[in-house]
This record gives sequence, structure tokens and C-alpha cells, in this order.
Amino acid sequence: MFIKERLFTPGPVPLPPEVIRALGQQIIHHRTPEFTNIFLETRENLQKLLNTKRDVLMLTSSGTGAMESSVVNFFSEGDKVLVINAGKFGERWAKISQTYGLNVIDYKIEWGETYDKDRLDEIVRENKDLKGILVQHSETSTTTLHDVAYLAKVCNSLDDCILVVDGITSVGVYEVYPEEIGIDILVTGSQKALMLPPGLSILYYSEKAEKRLEKSNIPKFYLNVKEESKKQSKGQTAYTPAINLIIALNESLKLMLKEGISNLAKRHEILAEMTREAVKELGLKLLSKSPTNCATGVYAPEGINADDLRKQLLKIGFRVAGGQDHLKGKIFRIAHMGYFDIMDMLQLIAGLEIALNKIGYKVELGKGIKKAQEIANKYI
Ligand SMILES: Cc1ncc(COP(=O)(O)O)c(C=O)c1O
Repeated sequence: MFIKERLFTPGPVPLPPEVIRALGQQIIHHRTPEFTNIFLETRENLQKLLNTKRDVLMLTSSGTGAMESSVVNFFSEGDKVLVINAGKFGERWAKISQTYGLNVIDYKIEWGETYDKDRLDEIVRENKDLKGILVQHSETSTTTLHDVAYLAKVCNSLDDCILVVDGITSVGVYEVYPEEIGIDILVTGSQKALMLPPGLSILYYSEKAEKRLEKSNIPKFYLNVKEESKKQSKGQTAYTPAINLIIALNESLKLMLKEGISNLAKRHEILAEMTREAVKELGLKLLSKSPTNCATGVYAPEGINADDLRKQLLKIGFRVAGGQDHLKGKIFRIAHMGYFDIMDMLQLIAGLEIALNKIGYKVELGKGIKKAQEIANKYI
């Protein structure tokens, strides 16, 4: 039977038609007034998305490039930093920081949980010389949300500490306004809620963080924020930019701004609630104790390998993600960030009910859908 593949993975995510159209255009040269105009408009739209007038850089790299850029530009060798390590990407903050000789306090947290405020306060009390706290806003590997506002308060209580937030799967899902929250460095990536292919990352930095640019003694060449900042404020980049991705980003930003960031956040809240409540109704258990609205991590039923269930889902047209490291085969992750609506989630839940039955975990057809419909009904 003909089957259409539907992408429900937490990056890459499906692309809106406006973005696909923009990507399909003939390339233009970047050292031209035409590109400069588009670049500056895109930059302004990014500033609107983050509700700031400060520098928001577009880097030609995947999200990890912006993470690395945060470390090499705003810290110096030997700086003591606290990493909230609650999953695959928290671990990445620790690895990048260690690579560049930072003194890392690696606060490891059980996957699926968020940090403990008392434990955090204790660490901070014992390490008043912290130069930074590095965290994921939304830890995609465990579909967990961390409270970054509290971390901002903690950072501000110290002499010279900056809050570095990986917003790779939170920007475009929540209202992430770094100045209001107190985030000093915020990074995100194109293939998530910005609804683009991979290849572009974004970096915001605060006035407080800017002072670090002069002091940082870590070698850097390609990822040099000072150099990029000079060029980008004039609508150019230090090296060849991802021209078509930037043009497409402008289109996706226009869509997001037209929807309104608070409406967009509400939509993601509804899609996440529908998904979480439906899977619970089907007797499944959520992975996260502090779930994010970008994706939902779910344990496979007892005795069933999550990757077999994913194969079953794929057979009927749904590609969802699996678990990483020790969660491989145990969980699956359903994305609902970016170009998704209520009907997409109902479709996915319908598919999940079929796949569960096929794999031998009997559920009453329609039970999860009914729950999700009831939730959607409250908002439509
Ligand atoms: C929270 C988070 N951080 C970092 C990354 C790494 O981004 P990239 O794969 O674009 O380098 C991802 C990608 O899945 C992510 O979800």
C-alpha cells in the first residue's frame, strides 16, 4: 500500500511551503546590496523574535557551532563553569568546555529530570567564583525543560557569572526573551522550531557578555564573534554565508511573527498537552518529570523494544525519534515543534494506536485520540 512518510522527529522538522519556495530560488551573490538588504531584514526579524535590539548573529554551522562559539568567545582557559548536565546536550556543554580548558563542574542529573534547586544553591555557595552556568533550556534528548529564569537569578547573585543557554529546541516553541529572562548568551539552530533545513545557527549575547569578548584568551578563527559582529551589523558576514538558508529564515520568521510569538507558544503548549495526555491515556509512561513543549519522550510498553515500535510506526507513515545512549530501545520521542498543528497530532496519535496494536500491546482504538480531541476542543 502507498504510504506517505511524515516527519515527527525533533530536528529536522517539516518545512512550511513558504520556506520550500524560498529554498528553491536561484542563488544570489552575497557581496551585493540585494543580499545585504535581505540579511539586515532577517536580522531585524530575529531581533523581534527574541524581543531585543542587541546583536543576533547568524552563523554558518549546525547548532553545536554556536555552542562552541559561546565557549571560545566568552570564556578564558581555567574559567570555572557549572554545566547542568541532564542529557546528551548537557553532556555536550561539558565536553566543549573541557576541550577548551575550562574548569568544569559537571552537575550530572538523571536523564528525564531537571536540576534540584537546593543542590544548585549548594554548588553555587561553594563556588562563588563561577564564571558561567551552561544549560539547555529544552534538553531534547530527554524532552525536559529546565527553569532558566531561576538560573539567571543565581548568576546575577555572583560577581562575574554569565548564563549561557542552549535554546536550540526552545526558541520558536516558547517566548524566549533573553533580556527579560536574564540570559547572557542564547543559541539556537535552524533545523528545529525555526522550520528550516540544518546549517544555520544563531547567537545572541548580552551587554554583560560583550565585555568578555575583549578578555577571552581562547584561540578562535572561524567562530570569532567580534569579527562577525562588526560585519553583520553592516549586513555582511566574515565568510561565505548560507545564503539560501538566510533567505529562507527570513520567510520562516515572517510566518512566526505573523502568528505572534505568544500565540505560537500557546499552540505548542496545546500540541504538547494533547500528546502527553493521549499517550498516558493509552497506558504509556512519559520519560520526563519536567516535560518540554518541543517534543514528548515516551517509554515503550513493558517487554517491547521502542525501536521495534518505531519501525512499526514508520511502516504506517510516521517517523519518530528513538532514545540516545542508555535510553536506546527504551523510549521514543514525538516532536511537535515548528510546522505542526492540532490535526497533525491527532494523525500521529491515531497512528500510534495502530502501531501499538500491531506490535502486540492492545489498546482500544480511538482512546488516545478522544483524549487529545477533548484537549484540542477546549482551545478551538
Ligand atoms: C538541545 C540541543 N542542543 C544541541 C543540539 C545540537 O545541534 P546540532 O545537531 O545542530 O549541532 C541539538 C540537536 O539536536 C539539540 O536539540
